[in-house]
Amino acid sequence: MSSIRIALAGATGNLGIPILRALLDANHTVTVLSRIGGNSSKLQAHPNLTIKETDFTSTESLTTALKAAQAEVVISCYATSAIGSQNPLIDASVAVGVKRFIPAEFGMDSRNPLSVQLPVCAPKAATQRYLDEKVAANAGFSWTGVANGLFLDWCLEAGIILDLKQHSATLYNGGNVPFSATLLRDVAKAVVGVIEHRDRTANRIVYVHSARITQNQLIRYAIDNDAVKWVVNVKATEEVRWESLAELERPSGDVEAAMLGFCIVGSWDPEYGCDFSSHLDNNLLEVEQLSEPQLRDVVESFL
Ligand SMILES: NC(=O)c1ccc[n+]([C@@H]2O[C@H](COP(=O)([O-])OP(=O)(O)OC[C@H]3O[C@@H](n4cnc5c(N)ncnc54)[C@H](OP(=O)(O)O)[C@@H]3O)[C@@H](O)[C@H]2O)c1
Repeated sequence: MSSIRIALAGATGNLGIPILRALLDANHTVTVLSRIGGNSSKLQAHPNLTIKETDFTSTESLTTALKAAQAEVVISCYATSAIGSQNPLIDASVAVGVKRFIPAEFGMDSRNPLSVQLPVCAPKAATQRYLDEKVAANAGFSWTGVANGLFLDWCLEAGIILDLKQHSATLYNGGNVPFSATLLRDVAKAVVGVIEHRDRTANRIVYVHSARITQNQLIRYAIDNDAVKWVVNVKATEEVRWESLAELERPSGDVEAAMLGFCIVGSWDPEYGCDFSSHLDNNLLEVEQLSEPQLRDVVESFL
């Protein structure tokens, strides 16, 4: 497809880096919007890449940056702690005539009636409502959210799904709950797919995964490989939800730990829509699912 002018905020993060690589590989022209004094120095130069330090709290500053970029598409990969602060970027996008806004979603199903009540997901739903208002008032403006479940490789590395190095795990709701998870490179592929299929992805969430898996399935793959005995605990996600709500209530509570707890709830309780199998957009977005041997390889790469 022909090159599109794209502005990417949060390009220096866990997900931003693979998205930036995929956009440049697809021959798009990218302006990275980075916080003043942020992490942009870690990005490598590329002929199709411009880096612009911007005040993310200022619609005026963002408007100037997006105008200079002549951006047609804006992608927000803001850190989780900042997902409730995307409105200035949305306002600036509308002001300069951006056609598609991709908000920082990239996780659980934010359209599920239970998920949206989780404090980690509520700001995403609020952003969608704001985007819908902008769509209604501005012909030509549109948005797409990407739901990809857990980041498969990132969460394995971080010991969130299982701790493959220590051979230990907390099995949520027994460990046999099927859930959707996606490699970072496949999330990036889905974003490129949205840009290539803007007509069929307008004003909705797209659902992708690299695989539908269970925690016990991944432990089996690990045991097949190294036969080390696993130490496992079991925990109900409802207990995690109450603990996380209590953590938020505590003066100087650990907000990050609470947010991780809410992600666990959304990822391992079927009522929260953690298995996307019945409504995938993989084919449209050209995201291939992993075969069983490929999935085993992913697990083994973290042992
Ligand atoms: N599904 C999953 O398993 C999973 C896991 C983690 C994250 N996520 C989601 O993926 C998206 C990106 O997360 P990430 O882990 O890639 O983020 P991250 O690495 O924590 O941060 C991304 C970038 O955001 C910018 N940033 C930091 N603080 C900011 C602030 N206060 N306001 C605006 N920008 C800020 C920084 O870029 P600059 O310094 O260049 O400005 C940073 O490199 C989020 O929507 C998050 O909720 C999903």
